[in-house]
Amino acid sequence: MSKIIETLKLEHRLFRRYLDLFDQEMKAFEAGRSPRYELLEALLDYFTTFPDEWHHRKEDLVYDVMVTRSDVARSALYDLRIEHERLGAGAKKFGEHISDLRLGSDLPMNVIVEAGKTYSRLLRRHMVKEDDVFFPMAERYLTLQDWRDIEQTVQSSRNDPELSARLDRIDGVAGSIESIASSERY
Ligand SMILES: [Fe+2]
Repeated sequence: MSKIIETLKLEHRLFRRYLDLFDQEMKAFEAGRSPRYELLEALLDYFTTFPDEWHHRKEDLVYDVMVTRSDVARSALYDLRIEHERLGAGAKKFGEHISDLRLGSDLPMNVIVEAGKTYSRLLRRHMVKEDDVFFPMAERYLTLQDWRDIEQTVQSSRNDPELSARLDRIDGVAGSIESIASSERY
């Protein structure tokens, strides 16, 4: 398996774990209990930044090469990039609801919970499609040279100081998620 696909799969595993935490907070919300806002906000910070800044960016690189290699892949996965944009917008919308709520908005609880559940459902479904269809197709159609080129592009983006600083910040957010999640629910 190519190193990029291996990393993308590991990131999916982490996303699923964070979505499980997110879903637990949504359940607390639905049951009329107060969610752990600190955790919810860290999760939203993560989901509104890391996928777009880094994860989808790498997938888009693979996708863009793959669609030039195979018509089958192009039609089976039309259009992964649009889904990535929708997911970004979904996370942002939910994040705005939470900020409004914190600022005293009287948005009905069911609207907020529905936006959260929709986002979680969309991202989970999207990852199943990528794990089951996109990644196997990419492994099948991309050449060794393609993977090397993509790896090089990824590496040079990673060396960009601005992006690197943003990714370091997100690492810190991930650390906060872990520490809040492992602490007792009050
Ligand atoms: Fe993905």
